[in-house]
Amino acid sequence: MKFRFPIVIIDEDYRSENTSGLGIRALASAIEQEGFDVLGVTSYGDLTQFAQQQSRASAFILSIDDEEFTSDTGIDPIVLSLRSFITEVRRKNTEVPIYVHGETKTARHLPNDILRELHGFIHMFEDTPEFVARHIVREAKAYLEGVQPPFFKALLDYAEDGSYSWHCPGHGGGVAFLKSPVGQMYHQFYGENMLRADVCNAVEELGQLLDHNGAIGESERNAARIFNADHCFFVTNGTSTSNKMVWHHTVAPGDVVVVDRNCHKSILHSIIMTGAIPVFLKPTRNHFGIIGPIPKSEFEHSAIQAKIKANPLLKGVDAKTVKPRILTITQSTYDGVLYNTETIKNMLDGYVDNLHFDEAWLPHAAFHPFYGSYHAMGKKRARPKHSVVYATQSIHKLLAGISQASHVLVQDSQTVPLDRPLFNESYLMHTSTSPQYSIIASCDVAAAMMEPPGGTALVEESLLEALDFRRAMRKVEEEFGKGDWWFKVWGPDKLADEGVGTAEDWIIRGDTKGSKKSGNTKWHGFGPLADGFNMLDPIKSTIVTPGLNLDGKFDKTGIPASIVTKYLAEHGVVVEKTGLYSFFIMFTIGITKGRWNTLLAALQQFKDDYEKNQPMWRILPEFCQQHKRYERMGLRDLCQHVHQLYAKYDIARLTTEMYLSDLTPAMKPSDAFAHIAQRRTERVPIDELEGRITTSLITPYPPGIPLLIPGEVFNKKIVDYLKFSREFSALSPGFETDIHGLVEIEDVDGNVSYFADCVAEVEVARSKPAAKKASAQKALPAPTVAAKKGAAKSKGSAKKAPFPKPAIAKSTRAIKERADAQTDSLVQVGDTGPFARNV
Ligand SMILES: Cc1ncc(COP(=O)(O)O)c(C=O)c1O
Repeated sequence: MKFRFPIVIIDEDYRSENTSGLGIRALASAIEQEGFDVLGVTSYGDLTQFAQQQSRASAFILSIDDEEFTSDTGIDPIVLSLRSFITEVRRKNTEVPIYVHGETKTARHLPNDILRELHGFIHMFEDTPEFVARHIVREAKAYLEGVQPPFFKALLDYAEDGSYSWHCPGHGGGVAFLKSPVGQMYHQFYGENMLRADVCNAVEELGQLLDHNGAIGESERNAARIFNADHCFFVTNGTSTSNKMVWHHTVAPGDVVVVDRNCHKSILHSIIMTGAIPVFLKPTRNHFGIIGPIPKSEFEHSAIQAKIKANPLLKGVDAKTVKPRILTITQSTYDGVLYNTETIKNMLDGYVDNLHFDEAWLPHAAFHPFYGSYHAMGKKRARPKHSVVYATQSIHKLLAGISQASHVLVQDSQTVPLDRPLFNESYLMHTSTSPQYSIIASCDVAAAMMEPPGGTALVEESLLEALDFRRAMRKVEEEFGKGDWWFKVWGPDKLADEGVGTAEDWIIRGDTKGSKKSGNTKWHGFGPLADGFNMLDPIKSTIVTPGLNLDGKFDKTGIPASIVTKYLAEHGVVVEKTGLYSFFIMFTIGITKGRWNTLLAALQQFKDDYEKNQPMWRILPEFCQQHKRYERMGLRDLCQHVHQLYAKYDIARLTTEMYLSDLTPAMKPSDAFAHIAQRRTERVPIDELEGRITTSLITPYPPGIPLLIPGEVFNKKIVDYLKFSREFSALSPGFETDIHGLVEIEDVDGNVSYFADCVAEVEVARSKPAAKKASAQKALPAPTVAAKKGAAKSKGSAKKAPFPKPAIAKSTRAIKERADAQTDSLVQVGDTGPFARNV
């Protein structure tokens, strides 16, 4: 594969008709003869900017003419320029060859700090251009070979080899696609290399992912070193899978586990999968709906023991002697709140055997001192005495990984090493035997990219862009002045005037009166927090729209965030997540100035259109196409309409209280979930849910945090919230809360009813006589409801409705016929109905 990495020559005489120009052009032409591209520029003008392009160069030749030296003091302008250029290149790249090309001046004329960064000093006309070119090209080639990490290098070699493959995948290096027009399009779109390198585990020379050997094993060891871990396992199915691997290795049925209530659903799936009994640590929330940290006091042994004691599923367990098998916390939260992991390790070492930090959103932190000990594994940090530490990271979220690229990092404790073969049993259980090799390659490449100093520079750039964005937003606000409004970026009051500032500005401080550090205590709205236990990651930016203050009080006017993000989307800016009055963006290492400046400009346009109350049909045509009722409204009127509805129902408070309400487990999550396989569920209308036990995860979006897990009981606050959501959907189509886990059923007249799948009443009556019963007449076994009412649609993406979806059911008759057919097929042979085997 021919990579385009030119050798860059900077010489002000590059195009001049003088000796110097002739000499450098002769060298350029000799380099081209050797098969390398040359990029010749004449200006030392913006050297630093140019140095930032170093990732595209295979070598630099920096030309200096005799007349540019005026003294031997080392402070000639040319020396200063060279120094700043070389410093900028070396900030990210210690390896790329740099040559100085001079006339008669020698090493004597350059200071040591420049000389030690050079690969050579070329004297014009001393050797033939051909000889010099061969020397430089050899170094450039060695450099390019050296940047390839182990697996990517092996994959390149394989793809270049041109062997005929008889192994899977069956497209045979892309050839199958060439046999049809649409296949041709696919081939042209992705390109030959992607398809040639799409191989299977029959290719021995690449090593085996499932055995962690060969080039893949080497690459995993390389990544472990780079990420400060003892072990690294590449995972080709996202951190959702990494989490399950860690859990299957550490947790057995009936084990007590300690889990952040604000965890990703893959952790909840892990609880269900392993048969564990969870006790939850409850995070704080502010009224913007932002999930805060779990207070430090929740990590105390006594606090965990109190939770174990209070858990009805752990009756008879001696809270004082039982040791939780694992602790999993979300590090960072979706909005960027981090924990001081050293504090947690110190508090729990030896009490909880496995400490798991779900760092899906934090793989960058290990590469910049800014993050101190606010991430799981750092250099020169003492390992816990007893507890093994796991970190699971989505390489594809914040680093240069392609979708689903993830890894598990493990740090042995002082006394307990990871048993790799045993871990691999769990790894195998969750890994396809046909992994996607381009995901493996991106894990390999992303790790190599983060190797300091390059990785540190990349993270520094993200931090800098994030801070520049925050400063720019504040400047805009200042310009609008006090009587006007503008969007705020949630974060500490104090920001450095320039540069990335210090981590101290972002560490959340306790309200210690009189302390110098007590300034940063209130901005977050999470109430009193332990001093220094948490920090906010500056690269995660939550942008707050007007309408709701930190106390949860609604202003007279307001701008719901969903309208802003719909507006942004129609103007080509897609954000990561939208809440009620906030939305979220991230400054990943892929961010550019252009991207955040475009966002800022689009927000300005929004404000302008809002002030002018521009008609919706003009500014949000795609949205109005779907929801014609808003066509003739003005933007400001629509904002006010939705804002007033939110205020009327006090939705911020309702949501917060619902999340903070007492959630009672009535059954082990795995037992409740088993009801699905055993078909012992009932599809219960939401009005009758109070007291019923869910068999599914119930997750409202926003905020996307599971509200109930299988085995827990719907309480009044949750049922009120579900009723409110239903009413709100009817009043404001297009702005409804999506609640995964609810089943939506549309009758023949298009009326939609909402249900949740619960443990069947008969089952509850048998096992838990105290549980509240809903009306058995209305709550029917799932198939019967669907068959009677029409088509069922699950709101959960992962949960398919067992019956035809409205989109494919063309007529009432068709619906009925299909539903009848489905119902028939669900009745088990020899049984009299779906519940027959229990009776
Ligand atoms: C905290 C957390 N953990 C794990 C995951 C799952 O990661 P992936 O999408 O790589 O499977 C996510 C996804 O958003 C997450 O937010």
